Amino acid sequence: MEVEESGAELENAGKVEAEAEYHSHDFDWEDLKAKVESDPAFSYHLSPFSSPAAGTTSPPQPSSEAWKSFHRRHASGKFFKERRYLLKEFPELPNSKDCAKILEVGCGNGSTAVSILRSSESITVFACDCSKDTLEKANEIISNTKGIDIKDRFHPFLMDVSKETFPDWLFCNAYPSHHKVRKEQPDFLRENQCCVSGMDFVTMIFTLSAIPFTIMPSTIEQCVSVLKPRGLLLFRDYGLYDMTMLRFLPHQRVGFREYMRTDGTLSYFFTLDTVRELFHAAGLIEVALKFFNMFSGISITYVVYTPFLIQVHKLLTADLHLPTALQLELEYCCVQSVNRKNGKKMQRVWVHGKFQKPAS
Ligand SMILES: C[S@@+](CC[C@H](N)C(=O)[O-])C[C@H]1O[C@@H](n2cnc3c(N)ncnc32)[C@H](O)[C@@H]1O
Repeated sequence: MEVEESGAELENAGKVEAEAEYHSHDFDWEDLKAKVESDPAFSYHLSPFSSPAAGTTSPPQPSSEAWKSFHRRHASGKFFKERRYLLKEFPELPNSKDCAKILEVGCGNGSTAVSILRSSESITVFACDCSKDTLEKANEIISNTKGIDIKDRFHPFLMDVSKETFPDWLFCNAYPSHHKVRKEQPDFLRENQCCVSGMDFVTMIFTLSAIPFTIMPSTIEQCVSVLKPRGLLLFRDYGLYDMTMLRFLPHQRVGFREYMRTDGTLSYFFTLDTVRELFHAAGLIEVALKFFNMFSGISITYVVYTPFLIQVHKLLTADLHLPTALQLELEYCCVQSVNRKNGKKMQRVWVHGKFQKPAS
């Protein structure tokens, strides 16, 4: 077993993600779960986590500091891998209405931002990260992207989402939030324009897993505060029993399903239930892709009021035994690939989800 998911592994994960474009259900997650949970070699991943006694270890550095060092060490920008597949996974982005505004949280070198900006000339991307170095790299990569002028539609800003609040120029009082806001006036705002009026979309792509689990609820709440009513939060991150989780050693556990790489960066591995609970607690509702009643032939595509549909689905299947299917936009993406160098099978698991802010 290798020690950890190294920088090279992260890079490779990006490639596998890119190749995962048209196949995301290569194996069944329940089969993988059964295999992992019956293998004694993996038992330490399953046991409840007990924190070391107070005073026996030195306090860990904040996770954002580790990410800043990570980006300083990898200043070449080699972690840039355009995530084109995201537009297939989230077709709302290329199909969004005119002048859609998107906030990319934890944008890194701009892998996600570039693909979104390319997809439509009327999209504007606001992007934050805790690392100044990576924001500069993202700006450079995006300014040099050939074929389409995306420079004026990309607005990066420095922010640690685990402890700061979003700037007040990002969202308007029309969408009230109890968060304290800062007073700043960025250059791209027109004279007398107080803010950019909130976001139509927030994307969290492999960012939440990098933040301590205990801080996730307040971080999500923050992100929800900048979303317009009916706006969508698009989520993709590591799933439970992803290959990279199973490589962590017992001493690298820092919480239940939470691990620290040797460079101090964190990685959390999500179940669908954890994701659902976190986003529901912040007031978001799940987006359902399709509801189908085989008995009546009724099919509803892209419905939003999911809690009601879940109730209907339960009633029809469990109580009335009617054949209905409810496909939610919260699922495991399971991709199998083979390492060309050593021929080893790699089983990657990601969680893909869409959540909506209610209208009121
Ligand atoms: C795995 S990268 C994902 C980058 C990007 N979203 C993408 O699609 O490639 C995680 C990013 O989150 C950023 N990050 C980690 N903790 C953060 C925090 N507390 N505030 C803001 N950004 C953070 C890191 O600097 C890093 O760029």
